[in-house]
Parts: sequence; C-alpha cells; structure tokens
Amino acid sequence: MGFWSSSLLGIPLAVALISFLFFRILNHPFSFSSLYSATQAQRLFSAEELSVYNGTDPELPIFLGILGSVFDVTRGKSHYGAGGGYNHFAGRDASRAFVSGNFTGDGLTDSLLGLSSTEVKSIVEWRDFYTRTYIYTGKLVGRYYDKEGNPTKYLKGVEAKAARGAQLLEKQKIEEAKVPGCNSRWSQDEGSEVWCDDGFPRLVKRPIEIALTGKMSKRCACYKEDELKLEGLEVYEGCDYYAKKCRLKP
Ligand code: HEM
Ligand SMILES: *[C@@H]1O[C@H](CO)[C@@H](O)[C@H](O)[C@H]1NC(C)=O
Ligand SMILES: *[C@@H]1O[C@H](CO)[C@@H](O)[C@H](O)[C@H]1NC(C)=O
Repeated sequence: MGFWSSSLLGIPLAVALISFLFFRILNHPFSFSSLYSATQAQRLFSAEELSVYNGTDPELPIFLGILGSVFDVTRGKSHYGAGGGYNHFAGRDASRAFVSGNFTGDGLTDSLLGLSSTEVKSIVEWRDFYTRTYIYTGKLVGRYYDKEGNPTKYLKGVEAKAARGAQLLEKQKIEEAKVPGCNSRWSQDEGSEVWCDDGFPRLVKRPIEIALTGKMSKRCACYKEDELKLEGLEVYEGCDYYAKKCRLKP
C-alpha cells in the first residue's frame, strides 16, 4: 500500500509496468500456443471417434491412444500408417500390446489385468516416450478417463502400480550393484563365454516380478569363495565349481 500511494510516481509507474507486462504477454511466443494446447488437451474422444484416425485415410492425422492419452503420431507415419509395422497401435488404445507384443485380436486391448508392476511401469514409460516425441492431443473416454476427462480409479491404480514397479527395480539395482556382474564375450566360432576377474561366475535368478519384464530372468554375477554357499546360486552347466571362466552351451 505504502509504496504505491505514497509516491506520486506510483500510478503512472504502475500503468507503465502493467501495460509493459501486458504487451509482453501478448507478444510472448508461448502464451497463445500454451493456451491453445490447454484447450486442445480437453479434446475428448470416444473409441469410435478415435478409430477414424487409424492411418487408413491419408488425408487425416494418425492418432494413437496409450493409457487413455491420445497423441498425434502423424509424423511417425512410416511406423503407424497403413502398412507400417505398428499400424495396429493407430486409432485405438492398445496399451497392453506395448509389453505383450501381441498385436493380434484380443491382444490389442487397453486392459492391463494381470500384468506385473514392472510391466505396468514399462507401459507408463511408453506414454512418457509419446509425450516427449509426439503431440499430445486429448483423452480417450473409457477405461482411463471418464466423460468429464477426469482420470479414473483405474488410471490412478495404474500410476500407483507403476510407482511400485519403479521402486522394485530401484531396489533390485542397488542389490545387484553389491555383486559385480560377469564379463562376457561372444564370437562366431567360439560362441559365448563368461568370466570373472575376481570371484567365480554364478547364475542368479531375479525376483519373479522383475523377471517378467524383458527376457532377463537371470544374471551372471561374480561371487567370492566364501559366498559360494549362498542360496540360489547356480553353477553353469558343464563348468567346474571353481572355474573362473565358463563357455556357454549354444
Ligand atoms: C513388445 C514388442 C515391441 C513393441 C511394443 C514395439 C514398439 C515399437 C514402437 C511403438 C515403435 C515406434 C516408435 C516411434 O514412434 O518412433 C518401434 C520402433 C522400432 N522397433 Fe519396435 N517394438 C517391439 C519389438 C521390437 C523388436 C523385437 C524389434 C527388433 C527385432 C523392434 C525394432 C524396432 C525398430 C528398429 C524401430 C525403429 C524403426 C525406425 O525408427 O525406423 N521392435 N517399436
Ligand atoms: C479406419 O478408419 C477408416 C476411416 O478413416 C474407417 O473407414 C475404418 O473402418 C477404420 N478401421 C477400423 C478397424 O476401425
Ligand atoms: C494374442 O492374444 C490373443 C488373445 O488373448 C491370443 O488368443 C493369442 O494366442 C495371442 N497371440 C500370441 C502370439 O501370443
């Protein structure tokens, strides 16, 4: 109060300041585009509306749904357009197929029933990929957003499960950092081999939840002599108990 009213210069200064700011806002390159994307973000699709943008009509943009978020992937026409390897993702939400790799029939569903927390996390990462790479266009009304465009219980459940998956992977990373991994190499004529500079190669199972994502159900790690009696360590087939190097069966 004191600052503006006690100064004679206050009012003209305030007017100048406000019009300056207003001018800046009007001319700011991002103000309208962010306003625009805020209204764009409210665009709601039904499954039927979304299916029109499946890449069949070359005049229309291509839209892809994942976890109920809709992205304009027209720029990726070679993947998502007619004849593209990922055309099945166009015009629908096939969230589950991002981890199942099943692009046929009922595999093309947005249901994540029965997936592990790390698998769910992987789908959330795909959504992050689309956010970074393509244009966010709106929401698909259905499993993940209600008709007001608010996230459903199901979406909140998915986010929570993905967060647990992330925690699990983080814990696993810390756990695995305690035991160094094996060295490995592969050559055409010798096949693959693993070895330890320090310690002895052992196969260890990863926890089921983690093993489900990727095909990495086991890892090779180097254990010291006094650790070899630990539970769950597997000697490579055809390899001696105290061998430092193991050739793998093809
Ligand atoms: C669960 C299985 C898979 C899913 C869900 C999947 C999904 C995708 C998607 C959505 C894209 C397009 C990304 C973009 O918009 O830029 C892509 C690109 C690509 N995928 Fe896959 N993919 C899978 C398996 C594979 C496999 C097994 C291979 C190789 C043997 C592969 C090789 C590629 C390559 C090379 C590209 C990039 C193509 C390019 O940029 O021209 N993908 N993948
Ligand atoms: C793909 O979109 C076209 C129109 O763009 C539509 O005629 C066709 O039925 C759609 N296909 C599917 C499987 O929804
Ligand atoms: C894909 O999913 C469908 C429906 O769940 C199933 O019938 C089919 O066997 C699956 N295909 C592959 C290759 O897993």
